[in-house]
Amino acid sequence: MKEKIQNLPLRTRTPLSWGSAALADPIALLIDHAFLEMKAAQNAMELMTRWPNEWTPGWVETMTSVARDETAHLAQVTRMLMRRGGRMERGHKSFYAADLRKLVRSGKTGETLDRLCVSALIEARSCERFSVLAATASDEELRKFYDALFSSELGHYKVFLKLAYKMAPVDEVTARWEELLDHEARILAEQPPGCRIHSGV
Ligand SMILES: [Fe+2]
Ligand SMILES: [Fe+2]
Repeated sequence: MKEKIQNLPLRTRTPLSWGSAALADPIALLIDHAFLEMKAAQNAMELMTRWPNEWTPGWVETMTSVARDETAHLAQVTRMLMRRGGRMERGHKSFYAADLRKLVRSGKTGETLDRLCVSALIEARSCERFSVLAATASDEELRKFYDALFSSELGHYKVFLKLAYKMAPVDEVTARWEELLDHEARILAEQPPGCRIHSGV
């Protein structure tokens, strides 16, 4: 797994100490996680229907497949949460994802490109965070779960980025992607610490 993490293009790396801190309250972490999976499923479904005229090969297949995976993750997280005596609560906010979405330009091509890049970034960072959680969790059930999610989110990161490269010339996509990678690192660093998947260090 280590080699794959190093291949992620993220500008910053999460220290193992973040994992121990985030796991201090596993219920809170699972609640936050459940909402993220739900939002990831919603995002994929929304992307699928938002630009039906840009009929990119693999578009519908990718979005339905991601939405199905995220819904399955949501079911797994909520089952684990309920077995441990927790439940989803109203009013979840992820400033990390919200701040990333603010970077999406309006206008057809730029908007689609940015939304795919932002989706890829969230997947890549989640992937990196799951690897840290898998490395630090002493709870065997959680450790295996985070380990399994790592591979799934890695696949999502790759497909979103692959679709992004179909939206505009390579140089243009690369330039925007590099820019957004810088923003991602800054936005993550601005997050307060806590028992959340995208909390600050
Ligand atoms: Fe997921
Ligand atoms: Fe995902």
